Amino acid sequence: MKGLILSGGRGTRLRPITFTSAKQLVPVANKPILFYGLEALVESGIRDIGIVVGDTRQEIKDAVGDGARFGARVTYIEQEAPLGLAHAVLIAEAFVGGEPFVMYLGDNLLRAGLTSLVDEFRATAPNAQILLARVPNPQQFGVAELAGGRVVRLVEKPTTPASDLALVGVYMFDRHVFEAVQAIRPSARGELEITDAIQWLIDHGRVVVPRIIDGWWKDTGKLEDILEANRLVLDTIDRRIAGEVEGSEVLGKVIIEVGAKVVQSTIRGPAVIGKGAMIENAYIGPFTAVGDHAIVRSSEVEHSIVLEGSSITDIAGRIESSLIGRQVSIYRAGTKPRSYNFMLGDRSQLGLV
Ligand code: G1P
Repeated sequence: MKGLILSGGRGTRLRPITFTSAKQLVPVANKPILFYGLEALVESGIRDIGIVVGDTRQEIKDAVGDGARFGARVTYIEQEAPLGLAHAVLIAEAFVGGEPFVMYLGDNLLRAGLTSLVDEFRATAPNAQILLARVPNPQQFGVAELAGGRVVRLVEKPTTPASDLALVGVYMFDRHVFEAVQAIRPSARGELEITDAIQWLIDHGRVVVPRIIDGWWKDTGKLEDILEANRLVLDTIDRRIAGEVEGSEVLGKVIIEVGAKVVQSTIRGPAVIGKGAMIENAYIGPFTAVGDHAIVRSSEVEHSIVLEGSSITDIAGRIESSLIGRQVSIYRAGTKPRSYNFMLGDRSQLGLV
């Protein structure tokens, strides 16, 4: 069996972060989202993995390399434009080479892992196995309608959903999916939809098996979903203190990586402090990931992600529910007249008290 990870797309809902970085490489608990999917595939026994890449191809290649360090062999498949998930399948036909495969959307995170689902797909060999999760906002996903335990209809982002069962971004197919992706036409948003391809399989008498997943699932396309994924992953970590702690309180599930320093501060887990980071006279609250070599000094940060190399210094109010990019500095200017001084990139969002 092979794996196909989709890592193209523009990540428009995560601008400005995605102006300079692929959305699949935004870290959750200090690890790029994409790596969770890669690791889940390898853990389920899949080692031959294709990654479909677009505009951010170089960054993805730099981060993943040949896959050896994940125990995988990675082949890159170039998609010239984000023409849809089914288009990505279409261009991956030569790589897949007639084998059954798991397609994994690179911005999805699943708590439960894939092993039992992949084992089941291998053993029962349907034409497709789709994963479903109950969600409060089905309008934002592909939605499945089931009858008697079978899938009867799939609709992409319906205005009036027939159920609360969203299509999770992990799909298992045999070679028949290639007939489907060749037959379908672009949707109203101009993309070849995988949802339409699966509907085509159903309409042509193929066996499409639904599985409702246990445990959480997140599509991390938006800020609040990334913060929520960060919260969910941090909740599962074990305490590990490899860095230096001096005159500080470190409570609960906290990882302090090697080379990090925590001085005269309080860290309330779950939280992770990256390699070489500096936390001084500060408060790091629950569900916070501070990236490698970041600095938090005389400030308070909670329920946030601070990427590598950024610094937060002398801020009076607590920073909450924030995603702060790489090499950002947030500091108290101390100049007169008392004023705000900004240099913000396009589409930045700044919430002031
Ligand atoms: C895509 C699929 C949708 C699925 C979702 C899961 O949506 O089209 O059916 O429910 O992924 O993450 P997109 O994220 O491209 O809007």
